[in-house]
Order: sequence, then structure tokens, then C-alpha cells
Amino acid sequence: MLLITLNLMELAPNNTISPRLRFNRAARCRPVDRPPIWLMRQAGRALPEYRQLKEKYTFVQLCQNPELAVEVTLQPVRRFGLDAAILFSDILVIPEAMGQKYHFKETGGVQMDFAVASKADIEKLSVERVVERLNYVEQALKMLRAELGDQTALLGFTGSPWTLATFMMEGASVPKYSRALQLFREDSKTYYALAEKLTAAVTAYLQMQIATGVDAVQIFDSHGGHLAPTEFQEASGRWTNQIIANLGGKVPVINFSLGTHGNWRDLINSGANILGIDWQTDLAEARKIIPAHLAMQGNLSPVHIAESTPEVVAAETKKILEAMRGRPGHIFNLGHGLTPGAKLENIAALVETVKNYR
Ligand code: CP3
Repeated sequence: MLLITLNLMELAPNNTISPRLRFNRAARCRPVDRPPIWLMRQAGRALPEYRQLKEKYTFVQLCQNPELAVEVTLQPVRRFGLDAAILFSDILVIPEAMGQKYHFKETGGVQMDFAVASKADIEKLSVERVVERLNYVEQALKMLRAELGDQTALLGFTGSPWTLATFMMEGASVPKYSRALQLFREDSKTYYALAEKLTAAVTAYLQMQIATGVDAVQIFDSHGGHLAPTEFQEASGRWTNQIIANLGGKVPVINFSLGTHGNWRDLINSGANILGIDWQTDLAEARKIIPAHLAMQGNLSPVHIAESTPEVVAAETKKILEAMRGRPGHIFNLGHGLTPGAKLENIAALVETVKNYR
């Protein structure tokens, strides 16, 4: 009897489950009508409404003003009816809150005021005030939770310590990230000092996000694949795992580590509830390797969204849906973020194909 009551409560008036519930069920490997969908980098410059705001405000201003961050977060949800909203922000707000300011160069890429280059630079980084300095994120998330209510899922995120360290040591986005790699290989003790600080800062930051009521958090390890498979666990995996353990299972954690799928065992044992699968991985093969209690997120190539036609996007989307048919716990996403050249008609074709799938 109790079960029946609960099931009825989960249904929206038109007898469908809400996007938020669809996301939350899939995140826990429970059956749903069709996979929920959201897209990495869904908020941003593929959208004309975002570009319009960019004429008035800089990227960092959009991140730091809670009202504007809320608006940019909601833009793709309004336009495409996605199942989850991801906070409009950046992984680089953590280094910034630790004392390393940055800006987005309108010619492309990000630039920090200085690069972390020595032990002394690492010692100067502040962990204690990170949450307080990121109060604008807390405000934005609270406003978003109130706005989205029970209708749409809300996601928080962070960069992994390794990925953050690669940016912090270059002081910018660069063609080749070699300095963190060099430090890890030549002076691992000093690298660990940096990773430890980042682990503490990221843990506190995600705990704050969770307290605002986000449904899940994603850890972006975008530069995990720069490591040799034998180095991955020590330089990156181990710190991510520690963060996940520190969160104590309060919300599902999505672990998206790009280019590290040769390290299956490490990813499966990371403690994450959901593994982000990158676009270079065969989903049908991944499905065989990943145990049934872990959900899978992915993995259409963003290149299709920028380069193909709506017909091709629909066909490629169906292939991914079919590869996951019958396995509870699939969250549809791209296999990496939307690129600036993403075509709106292709995003629309992708979302419609997933929504019509049964
Ligand atoms: O997914 C979302 O829509 C939420 C917003 C979001 C942004 N960045 C907005 C953004 C998220 C989740 C990120 C994460 C992020 N930031 C990552 C990990 C994800 C990935 O793609 O691997 C990384 C590596 C960064 C660091 C970063 N931010 C770089 C290197 C750059 C410049 C290069 C680029 O891709 O533009 C940014 C800027 C940035 N972050 C933009 C957006 C919308 C572009 C700003 C603009 O064009 O106005």
C-alpha cells in the first residue's frame, strides 16, 4: 500500500514523471520512462541569449553575479526543456578563491594573474576562506533550487584536483599542459602538497553546494587523460576518491574523467555513483565492464553537434540509446562539452530524439 502511494506521488498531473525525478531515479539505477538528458557546457556561447548578455558583461561578471548566473543557467533549460540544469560557473573559481584571479580572454581561453610555480606559491594558497569567497555560488544555487523546485534537477560541479593543478601551474589555458605533469614526475612531494590543498578546498566547496539542495555534483577531470595509465591513480584518481569519500554519499557523484577509460578499475572503484563516459569510448563495451549498481552518463561526440546535420545527430543519438537499452541508469549527455560552434538545430534534434525514445 505504501509503495503504491509513493508511486502515485511521483507522478506529475499528466501522468509523466517530472524531469527532476527522472534524473534522480536514473542516477540511482532505477527504471525510468526514458533516459534523462542534460549537456555538458549547455549554458554558454552556443546560445544567442547568452551572447547577448556577453555584450554587456564579462564572463567572470556573469559567474559572480548570482542573478546573472541564475539567468544563464536557466537559458538552455527554457530553450530545450532539459531534465537537469547545471550551475553556470567555472572550475577556475576554486583557484580564484584560493588567491589566483583569472579572466576569460575574448580572443579565447583563460588567463590567470600569475602561475603557481614554487613551494612558496603553494603555501600562499588559502583553503580556509574558499567557501566564504564563493558565497556568490551559494546564493545562485539557492535561487536556482527555489526556481526549479521539484520540476528540474539541479547539478553542482567542480574540477578535480589534478585538472585544477594543471591550469594553476600554467596560469592559463595553453596548447600543452606540461608543468603539473613535470612537478608530479620530478617532485611528487610538492605536487602532493598542492593536491592536498585542492582536495580540502574542493571538499568544502562541494559540501556547501550539497547544503543548498543540488541533486548531484559532477567532478570534471578534464585533464586526467594527460597522465600515463600507471600515473593516473596517484596524480588524479586518489584525490578525487578522497573528495567523494569526504562527501559521505549525501548526493550522487558523477565522475567524468576524460581519456582515462583504460583505467576502468580505478574509475569503477572511485566511489562515484555515476561514471561519465567520454566520446572516445564504445558505450556498448563500457556497459559490459561497468557493474550494474553504477549509472552511466554519455556519450555523443560534441563534434556531431558542431559539424553534422539534425538527421545525422538523430541517427547517432539513437545508436547510443540502443546501446544502453534495457539497462537502468543511463543519463544521456555528450562525451565532452558543447563547443562554441554547436548548432542549435542539432541540439534540438538531439534532445527531441531522447525525449521521444521509448
Ligand atoms: O556546463 C555548463 O554549462 C556549466 C558551465 C561550465 C563552464 N565551464 C562555463 C564556461 C562548466 C561546467 C565549465 C567547466 C570547465 N571550465 C572545465 C571542465 C569541462 C571541460 O570542458 O572539460 C574546464 C576545463 C574549464 C576551464 C575553462 N573555462 C576554459 C579552459 C575556458 C576557456 C576555453 C573555452 O572553452 O571557452 C573557460 C571559459 C568558459 N567556461 C566558457 C563557458 C561558457 C566560455 C566563456 C565565453 O565564451 O563566454
